[in-house]
Amino acid sequence: MILPMYILGQSVLRSKSNDIDMDYPNLQELIKDMYETMQKADGVGLAGPQVGLPINMFVIDLDVLSEDYPEYKGFLHAFINPKILESSEETESIEEGCLSLPGIHENVRRPTQVHVTYLDENGTAHDEWLNGFLARVFQHEYDHLEGKLFVDRLSTLRKQMIRKKLIAMTKGKYECSYKVKK
Ligand code: NI
Repeated sequence: MILPMYILGQSVLRSKSNDIDMDYPNLQELIKDMYETMQKADGVGLAGPQVGLPINMFVIDLDVLSEDYPEYKGFLHAFINPKILESSEETESIEEGCLSLPGIHENVRRPTQVHVTYLDENGTAHDEWLNGFLARVFQHEYDHLEGKLFVDRLSTLRKQMIRKKLIAMTKGKYECSYKVKK
């Protein structure tokens, strides 16, 4: 089932999410719905708050990158109760977009590697260092659980340049091809 996307201006995107148990109601169905919603919208990641749920959970699909990065072939996973324990000093600036901010694409600087823990879709605990595109998407999605959006991380100047677009968005003035929460 495709879930409606919450867009900038809706308060759930600015709230701090909470950890869940593996017996969270209909968790497997929710994961499946989030996969479907993300893929339908051509996203590589989708976090709970973006479908109106303030829960510490996100899904990531990197299969679309597998032509250039064979290691991501079939990569489709849920990350439950994720934590970032430490980050590399090395950072890089990469262009990001977000399904909750249609039409906005900006370069964001983030650490290149992060040491994380999480439960996967089967409830198995992981403790690992991530790098490459996975580290990038994980950090973007983790921000959602903290009530943060990538535009918060832009310079004052870049924020000023997109200010009008963001204000218009909160008033429902934007275009996107997927189902949104009204
Ligand atoms: Ni996002």
